[in-house]
Amino acid sequence: MNVLAELRSRFHTALESLDTAAGEYADMVLPSQDAKFGDYQANCAMPLGKRLGKPPRDIAGQLVEKLDVADLCETPEIAGPGFINLRLKEQWLVDQLQQTVNDPQQLGIAVTSEPRTYVLDYSSPNVAKPMHVGHIRSTVIGDALCRILRQLGHRVISDNHIGDWGTQFGMIIYGYKHFVDESLIGEDTVAELTRLYKLVNQLVEYHNTLEQKIPKIEQEVIELVARIEQMHDATELEVVKERKKAAKRLRQAEGQLAGLRTTLDSLRSKVAVVDDDPKLAALAAAHREIGAAVLAETAALHSGDKTNQALWDRFLPACLQSIEEVYRRLGVTFDHALGESFYQSRLAGVVEDLTKRGLARESDGAKCVFLKDHKAPFIIQKKDGAFLYATTDLATVQYRLEEWQPDTIVYVVDHRQSLHFEQLFATLRLWGVEDVQLEHVSFGTVLGEDGRPYKTRSGSAVGLSGLLDEAVQRAKKIVSENDDSRETPLLSSEERQQVAERVGLGAIKYADLAHNRTSDYVFSYDKMLAMNGNTAAYMQYSYARVRSIFDRGEVDVEALRASNATITLNEPSERALAVALTRFSEALQRVVADYRPNHLTAYLFDLASTYSSFFENCPVLKAENSQLRSSRLLLCDLTARTIARGLNLLGIEVVQRM
Ligand code: ARG
Repeated sequence: MNVLAELRSRFHTALESLDTAAGEYADMVLPSQDAKFGDYQANCAMPLGKRLGKPPRDIAGQLVEKLDVADLCETPEIAGPGFINLRLKEQWLVDQLQQTVNDPQQLGIAVTSEPRTYVLDYSSPNVAKPMHVGHIRSTVIGDALCRILRQLGHRVISDNHIGDWGTQFGMIIYGYKHFVDESLIGEDTVAELTRLYKLVNQLVEYHNTLEQKIPKIEQEVIELVARIEQMHDATELEVVKERKKAAKRLRQAEGQLAGLRTTLDSLRSKVAVVDDDPKLAALAAAHREIGAAVLAETAALHSGDKTNQALWDRFLPACLQSIEEVYRRLGVTFDHALGESFYQSRLAGVVEDLTKRGLARESDGAKCVFLKDHKAPFIIQKKDGAFLYATTDLATVQYRLEEWQPDTIVYVVDHRQSLHFEQLFATLRLWGVEDVQLEHVSFGTVLGEDGRPYKTRSGSAVGLSGLLDEAVQRAKKIVSENDDSRETPLLSSEERQQVAERVGLGAIKYADLAHNRTSDYVFSYDKMLAMNGNTAAYMQYSYARVRSIFDRGEVDVEALRASNATITLNEPSERALAVALTRFSEALQRVVADYRPNHLTAYLFDLASTYSSFFENCPVLKAENSQLRSSRLLLCDLTARTIARGLNLLGIEVVQRM
């Protein structure tokens, strides 16, 4: 049962009987910060008192009178100015847990009474280039949300909106036509395509940097230098206040200038990488128009050019296979992987329909939707006739609505695309798409230890596959050292490998999920693999530790569950553990409410700590009598099962020993 939701609903009824509009205050029922105020606390009497012009304590008294919670709580207590403190009944807690013992499937998790249909759009990498660290967040957050929504009883359709139709294909087509090594392409297609992609991208960037970016910044520097010279005069002004202001502006401008120069330096060193390599330099000289040529190859593909289409047909499977490999390792699956290419036939229709309805119009040759509150229009067709990312997204929504009739479409995509989604959603509303909730679940950047976006030493994106390998390797070292430090090591070498896989991959996923998704976070193997703190390793270790009790006590856990052993809650730390266990449902509900899996990691971490104090205070195997021993073993079992399920909902596997 979701206790919090239940209490809120009971409060809702009581509140409405006091004042018809008061129901909204039910959200002010919250878990107590401190056990001495009970398990839950309601602060609604204060604002309500103010509204009705009555003393809050009186309101609290009336509320408590109307409140029907006798089945689950002790008599509510009114404290201080009008706080209502609620303490769950021991018998009720016991009943809940006892039911959970016998319900391995649902494990006490409340199923929603209002199932919704969600389309979840996550991972969605652009293929033809290898997956990199930037893809981890969308993949892991999306997968966790998918699992949790399903656990709560919603219908979820997961769809990997793969970027399989963009410029990156123009790059590999151009690369294939000019630079391919035929012997390699047959042998390891993906490796050769990656090489081609990187080479072409590097050459395009080279010319773009040399011909566009550097001159633009050089111009900015010249202008800024001139402005700064003028500003120097202003710092000689008579009036002190004016002089101070001028000095401040000057400092700002100088800061800006320093920033521009740093950018310029890094651009120049990028160019130097090519210039200093005779082979690359020769290629760059021989392919001056490469930027435009790549766009032309892309355009040819889009307009049905036979050769390019054949190359695409030939290369796409290999690209998909390489991302599949990453998903297999991560244990991530999708119901559909309808890439951008899937929507090609719909794009012209989208533009036509929006134009016909007067929603899109031509501007500088391009077809645009102009939106209130947005300076820039949403461009759906370029001057040269090409369709855009935006057009595909419009067609995709159209398809999803027809095909799956979702109540909600969720896009798990990084925050840099916020504007795109704002414009997409606004355009959809204009287009008459009304009944579906549209959510951009955005997230921050993965940073390196230097606080800048995580890159390899050479400045390129960190490949995802290598990242996973490294985490597993490091986990293996930790697990092995830990096991070797035992008097008699526990784990066989296969077991060590399996544990290392789960701990290593778990570490990466958990570190990502435990951060508030909207913040950036620093990627640190040391932190994420730490045995202490809010990490996967700690949670997996907690799980294994609880399970080890059953081994040590030679307890048949299946038999224990099936027995009629009962739970008793006499010690405060037993009771605290019971309360924590009943909150699982609540935590999952919170995740779904704002699409933040970190509510679940926080819950699990709290559960593990509560379990630790229980374990310190309450002997389990050496309990005073066998009844108490069974009761405590049941609490251990529920804890282990809750941790395992919680981690599973985050896409993380547990290990029996580590
Ligand atoms: N392929 C895009 C990228 O890598 C993300 C796609 C997200 N989904 C969507 N429907 N736009 O930036």
